[in-house]
Amino acid sequence: MYRLARSWLFRRDPERAHDLTMAALGKAGGFARVLAHRPPPCPVEVMGLPLPNPIGLAAGLDKDGEAIDGLAALGFGFLELGTVTPRPQPGNPQPRMFRVPEQQALVNRMGFNNAGVDHLVGQIQKARFRGVIGVNIGKNKDTPNERAVDDYVHCLRQAFAVASYITVNVSSPNTAGLRDLQAGDAMYALLSDLKTEAEALARKHDRRVPMAVKVAPDQSPESLEALVSAINRAAPDGVIATNTTVDKSALGDDPVADEAGGLSGAPLLERANEILAELRGQLDDRIDLIGVGGITRGEDAAAKVQLGARAVQIYSGLIYRGPELLGEAGHAAADYLQR
Ligand SMILES: Cc1cc2nc3c(=O)[nH]c(=O)nc-3n(C[C@H](O)[C@H](O)[C@H](O)COP(=O)(O)O)c2cc1C
Repeated sequence: MYRLARSWLFRRDPERAHDLTMAALGKAGGFARVLAHRPPPCPVEVMGLPLPNPIGLAAGLDKDGEAIDGLAALGFGFLELGTVTPRPQPGNPQPRMFRVPEQQALVNRMGFNNAGVDHLVGQIQKARFRGVIGVNIGKNKDTPNERAVDDYVHCLRQAFAVASYITVNVSSPNTAGLRDLQAGDAMYALLSDLKTEAEALARKHDRRVPMAVKVAPDQSPESLEALVSAINRAAPDGVIATNTTVDKSALGDDPVADEAGGLSGAPLLERANEILAELRGQLDDRIDLIGVGGITRGEDAAAKVQLGARAVQIYSGLIYRGPELLGEAGHAAADYLQR
């Protein structure tokens, strides 16, 4: 069924195909249920949150929460929405999303196009889904890094009451300078300020909301070491590894390799897994890992769990494989976990 839809969608511009799919999922829950290949029940706990299965939706697909119930009907164990910023912003000029079907890969330079955090909060409040929803937060393009913390704190405050967890996104390659926030001291300062704020909010709302940080795969051994030490000191509840990579050499002489932006999908798997394994080896055991990057087959999801991820997320694989991938990933992860 998805194969038919895919051949129609792939004849359209990637962003148009994305918008059409989201509109269909947003309007017709029944449509999602027909397409669903739900993962089997496989309860896991991540950052203290109980999930019915470990297969999640990665950030960026539903930035504005337009299709929460439709996506939930596909059987995801949890959804991550956003990235949202304090104020709405248009993102980069189009075209800004490119397919490389032969490699099950995408390159994007969306640039945090989103309708702002308040819009997303309203969408979550309107949704019927009662499962785990992560809200991924970022900074507006025109906010300088010196004031980035204010943007993250603003989003944290606005989203706190409706989010199951918050993801601090410092790893998108498409907002100039954003990844500098991963540098040791900057990372520690940002995370510890946000933690202090989250603790105050927890007292006010009488409810704790765990915090994860999402990291980039493009790390030298030195930058990874500094990042790990900052994260261990700041002690967030989780780390999401990884975002897209700026290394597009895997695309060879495909013209898409010359497009600015981040690469995702199958060619990212190996690098994302290396970072995941490094992080599991070096991070404090109390910090949970969520593995993302390059899952296009069931065994890719199982490999991330084997490397120490308590849950996984998918984006590009969903574009190429459709909802079938959820069932496949869910079965493979469950087989490994229930062995
Ligand atoms: C078009 C597109 C937009 C994305 N937008 C975001 C985003 O807003 N925030 C974020 O943290 N990650 C974003 N990502 C990264 C994904 O969440 C994920 O980390 C990455 O694509 C690797 O997973 P995949 O290989 O399964 O796609 C985006 C990815 C794509 C392809």
